[in-house]
Amino acid sequence: MAEMDLMEKIVSLSKRRGFIFQGSEIYGGFAGFWDYGPLGVALKNNIKNLWWRMFVDNRDDMYGIDAAIVMNPKAWEASGHVAGFADPMADGKSFNTMFKTSVGAGEEATTAYLRPETAGGIFVNFKNVVDSLHPKLPFGLGQIGKAFRNEIAPRDFIFRSREFEQMEIEYFVRPNEWENKFEEWRKAVHEFISAVGIKKEGVHELEVPDNDRAHYSKRTIDFEFDFPFGRKELYGLAYRTDFDLSAHAAASSKDLSYADEGEESFVPHVIEPSFGVDRTVLAVLASAYTEDTLGGETRTYLKFPPAVAPVKAAVFPLLKNKPELVAKAREIYSMLKKDIPQVVFDDNGNVGKRYRRQDEIGTPWCITIDFDTLGENPEQKDTVTVRDRDTGEQKRVSVSELSSLLLQGLRV
Ligand code: GAP
Repeated sequence: MAEMDLMEKIVSLSKRRGFIFQGSEIYGGFAGFWDYGPLGVALKNNIKNLWWRMFVDNRDDMYGIDAAIVMNPKAWEASGHVAGFADPMADGKSFNTMFKTSVGAGEEATTAYLRPETAGGIFVNFKNVVDSLHPKLPFGLGQIGKAFRNEIAPRDFIFRSREFEQMEIEYFVRPNEWENKFEEWRKAVHEFISAVGIKKEGVHELEVPDNDRAHYSKRTIDFEFDFPFGRKELYGLAYRTDFDLSAHAAASSKDLSYADEGEESFVPHVIEPSFGVDRTVLAVLASAYTEDTLGGETRTYLKFPPAVAPVKAAVFPLLKNKPELVAKAREIYSMLKKDIPQVVFDDNGNVGKRYRRQDEIGTPWCITIDFDTLGENPEQKDTVTVRDRDTGEQKRVSVSELSSLLLQGLRV
């Protein structure tokens, strides 16, 4: 498949099947803004939940926060963004990428900014978390949320947009342990890449040279991915030193240092793994997109890991005009939905068409209720067929084991 051709196919499938639409489409769209449809928001939520589970819930050195998008503008002066957050595409024009807004009315109004990175809200809450939860160093704060950049050239579908989401961690360390922790996070980034379903062989690390690094970073690795339009940045891992905490301490006149008992106080240093949600969605879609031949027919399917698939299972009655089959299928559907909310009922068209439709949105399992389920063949009463998306293979499973079988398949 030609690579640009692949991009066109992904964009068209995303629209056709309700993953991603152009923002404000009925008004002709709005460059750099995208809307996620029903399947897109489910995919995105699953990605965010997986990240949160791996990096916040499953660790005892991580805490979550959710800070305001609009912050006191002094915070962006202190962080250096007001003076120097330019778009490299601006080519010498002094153009700041932060979106301005105004807070309050009339002459009293204050100019503020939509945050260009979620990190800012983490740094200004460092002291709040230390004072309220007393975490021991090293520890980190994780946040998922929107960020905004007035990009001069938004492009490549959701790759570079003006409103996007980030999943960021600021991991606070003692100055002498930054190298070890940098290595640990480097591995952790790769673990997430595998778990979320991004093709490992398409990911490459780039050691960012001194003159290309952000103003706050002493070392940065970009995790690049072979997107259909070329190799481009997917995630970043930066050593931000004590730049941010020291800058905020100086500007706010608050003490942002840390000390364990009997220890002299110091300003912690920071390792920052930063993940774009939308770039993850695009890399997952590009990794999952597959065309093959099954039973003599060509088909398109999305090979999502079950944990991120927007629909986990589709339940079908073999025939939609047999009330006893439909009733049984509805009963099994309701039972499954209690344990696994992302299950759908589908009785549109014949079973073959339903398989194609579910394959195309990446549903890992299709469950068919037939006459054997009802007891036509007494040995197979209360069993259903479960079809695997990738192999097309079907096996008979008893209804009582169905939930636990699917839940097992959903484990990461
Ligand atoms: N806090 C560090 C930071 O914001 P960045 O490299 O500018 O660093 C981090 O952004 C990640 O956010 C990128 O690796 C990318 O995944 C995502 N990102 C940045 N700008 C983006 C844009 N305009 N559209 C979509 N995602 C973007």
